[in-house]
Amino acid sequence: MDAPGVYKDIYSSMGSAPWTYAEPHTELVQLVNSGNLRSEGKVLEIACGEGTHAIFLASRGFKVSAFDSSTNAIDYAKINASSTEHLVDFTVADHKKVSDFRDLDFIFDWRFLHILTDETERQQYIDSVAQALAPNGKYLSVAFSGDKEYWGTGTLRSPPTVNAPRYWATLSQMKTLLTPKFEVVEEKLITTPQKPDLEIPCYFIFCNKRS
Ligand SMILES: C[S@@+](CC[C@H](N)C(=O)[O-])C[C@H]1O[C@@H](n2cnc3c(N)ncnc32)[C@H](O)[C@@H]1O
Repeated sequence: MDAPGVYKDIYSSMGSAPWTYAEPHTELVQLVNSGNLRSEGKVLEIACGEGTHAIFLASRGFKVSAFDSSTNAIDYAKINASSTEHLVDFTVADHKKVSDFRDLDFIFDWRFLHILTDETERQQYIDSVAQALAPNGKYLSVAFSGDKEYWGTGTLRSPPTVNAPRYWATLSQMKTLLTPKFEVVEEKLITTPQKPDLEIPCYFIFCNKRS
């Protein structure tokens, strides 16, 4: 469980969170360019932070909804979107909000899933993501990799930024979590940058909902 107010401090000013970047991450741009997402489809980003990825997808013609539990992050995301001509439906909500959605073409969370450390909660979350997707819907997870030594070893490790445990899943743990509802289409180990100069190992796992 995160200490109360941890994200309020991290999002105390616009653009200063260690994971906030003005440009979308290369791997997400590559996925969009690959043509593997339904063009102009309905997209949901869970835990969108300051909205860089959601706004990028809107700029590529997708109909995007996005939420985050941090009020400050969503305020900044709305400001970021207002400086573009791209529309995103930004809301403040926690991850359980995904249960309110249906018939989506693509759901993604970028550096969120590892925040859920309880096994039952992780499974319920993945089940809700699957339920919110249309037949043939796609899901992308980018989350800390437990197959690399980084900020310690083992499944539960606490990054200094938040000083609370995060779930560092191995590829095998990710597959056990995902495969009842999803077929994995692409899996790769990437690094995600974090200010000032970190590169954190993460699994990028793109999947199709099973019919
Ligand atoms: C590491 S940040 C990543 C943010 C964004 N995806 C990005 O890459 O910039 C994790 C995000 O999860 C949000 N968050 C934490 N717990 C959450 C929850 N239970 N439901 C929804 N969002 C949550 C935080 O406010 C934060 O914006």
